[in-house]
Amino acid sequence: MSADLLERQLASLLDTRDWLTNAAQTVAFIRQQFADLNWVGFYLQRSERMLVLGPFQGLPACNPIPFDRGVCGRAARTRVTQRVDDVHAFPGHIACDVASRSELVVPVVVGDGLWGVLDIDSPRRQRFDAADQAAIENLCRRFVAASDLA
Ligand code: SME
Repeated sequence: MSADLLERQLASLLDTRDWLTNAAQTVAFIRQQFADLNWVGFYLQRSERMLVLGPFQGLPACNPIPFDRGVCGRAARTRVTQRVDDVHAFPGHIACDVASRSELVVPVVVGDGLWGVLDIDSPRRQRFDAADQAAIENLCRRFVAASDLA
C-alpha cells in the first residue's frame, strides 16, 4: 500500500485529540498493516534522558530505557531515525524479545522537544528498507498532527 494511502487511513482512525487513544490506535494500525513485526510501541520521555514504556503490542517489554542505552536510546539522543538491519550487530542493543532481529526507531519530536520514540521490531533480518522508513515517519507525523501531546 502507498505511504499516502496508509497516512489517509491512519488519519481517519485518529478521530480524537487524545494522545493516549491515538497512540494505541497508531500502534495497532502499524502492526496490522506491515508484515513480519513482533513488537510495535511507543516509549515516552517523561523525565530527563529517560524513556518509559507507553502503548504497545507485543511481549512485555523493557522499562525504563535510559538515553545512553539501546537503539531507542540512540534515537532519543540523536533525534535521528535508527534503522538497524541486524540488532545482533548493534552494540548495546536491549533484547526485550529474543525473536527481534531488525528494528526501526523513529524519534517523535514536538516543537523543540523530544516527546518519545516509536519502536518497531521484526524477527526478520533487514526487514525495513528506506520506503518503510519513509512510510513510518509519515505515520508518526500524522500521529503528532492529530494529537494533543502531553
Ligand atoms: N530493542 C530496543 C529495546 C526496546 S524493545 O525492542 C521493545 C532497544 O535496543 O532500544
